Formats: sequence, structure tokens, C-alpha cells
Amino acid sequence: MTQPARIAPSLLAADFAHLGDEVARIGPYVDLLHCDVMDGHFVPNIGIGIPVIASLRKVTDLTLDCHLMATNAEAYFVPLQEAGADMVTVHMEVYPDPIGVAAKARDLGLRFGLVINPPTPLDAVEPYLDVADMLVVMSVDPGFGGQEFIYQVLGKIERARKSIDSRGLATDIQVDGGIGPDNVRRARDAGADVFVAGNSIFRAPDPVAAVAELRARLSGQEQDAGASTRR
Ligand code: DX5
Ligand code: ZN
Repeated sequence: MTQPARIAPSLLAADFAHLGDEVARIGPYVDLLHCDVMDGHFVPNIGIGIPVIASLRKVTDLTLDCHLMATNAEAYFVPLQEAGADMVTVHMEVYPDPIGVAAKARDLGLRFGLVINPPTPLDAVEPYLDVADMLVVMSVDPGFGGQEFIYQVLGKIERARKSIDSRGLATDIQVDGGIGPDNVRRARDAGADVFVAGNSIFRAPDPVAAVAELRARLSGQEQDAGASTRR
């Protein structure tokens, strides 16, 4: 069943010189913090590392959702758990049979999720949805913020939602990449529950207002800017 919509700002788009301030400003208005951990190998970029997760833990009680774009993701589970992470998500492209890695995360008390890249079919992950708290459907190629949302993944979200519901699972569906006011409702209607947004929040003139706008779109109550001037 689709759960209440949750907003997860992607810290990759935040100003790292003022990360504590960014989190303090946005924290009261969001549901979890999405932390992109990259190894420069699975993806050609470097993201947030263990010391940053430890520093974040000291300034927020929000769930720290760590998206591991790494070929040896499980090597980071212990240090991430010690740093205060709450959840790890790993890529199906790295772990085509994720049963063991899921158990490893759970043994550490971490929540666990499975990620599929845009070209990866739902079939690859479907047999394992029962070992995941969350399915993450990438709506951009992983590695960089600020890319265009790939609309073709909406069908995959719809099929994932049907599969999860028909099996009576509680697995959340997170959509990650290129989410903003123009497409968040489409992703919700397709069946997503958790919406990762980096650039559309942190690069907006007012990040708090940007979150409010996303929530309004999700609830279908967005302000019609033209309404007051229309006859
Ligand atoms: C892409 C990351 C995303 C990214 C989202 O590799 O997994 O979490 O930071 O940023 P935007 O919302 O800017 O696409
Ligand atoms: Zn991410």
C-alpha cells in the first residue's frame, strides 16, 4: 500500500561549507536526509563520506539514508553504522543476489534498501523485494545531481507498486534523481512514497519554500499563480 509521501533532500546539492546550517534550516520540514556515498569506481564521482555522516549525526535526529554507489558497499556498513547511519541502500547492479548483504545490514541494526539504475529491469529486483525496507528507483543515471528526470522509469514504479501491493509487502518506493515540482506528482501517482530532491531544494532561492511547493504538488493543492488575475 502506498504510504504517506516523504521528502528526502539529497545533501549532495547542499553547500558543504555550511552543511550544519543547511540541515538546521531544512530539517524541520523534511522526513529524512539522503546521503550519497560514492566510491569513484561504481560511479565516476566522489560523494559524502563517513566523517560527514558522523558530523551530521551530531546535529540531527532525522533518518540518515545512505545511498551507496560503491562496488564494495558492504565494506562501509560497519563504519557507517558506527558513524550513526540509519539506513543503507545498495545497487542491484553490484549485488544481483542481495540476500547475504541484506542480512549483513540487518545484523548491524541498519535498515536496508535495494537500488535499480534506469536501464535495470524490475525483474532483477522483484524476487528480493521482501528483504528490502525500500526499493529505490533511480530516475537519473547515478553519480551526479542536477540531471533531467527520465520519465521512462514511471512505468517501472507503477509495476513495482503493483508487485509490492499484491504481495502484501510494506516495502517503500523511493524515487531518486531529477525530482522537482513539475514531476513529483507524476512519480506519486505512479506509486512512489519517498521523494529524493537535491537541486530543486538546495539550489532554489528558498529551500524551505521549495519543500512546501513539493508537498503542495504531492497533495494536489498547489497554488494556481494565475487564479487571482483570472476572470
Ligand atoms: C545521483 C544521486 C541523487 C542526486 C539527486 O547519483 O543518487 O541522490 O543527488 O539530485 P538531484 O535531485 O539534483 O537530481
Ligand atoms: Zn542518491
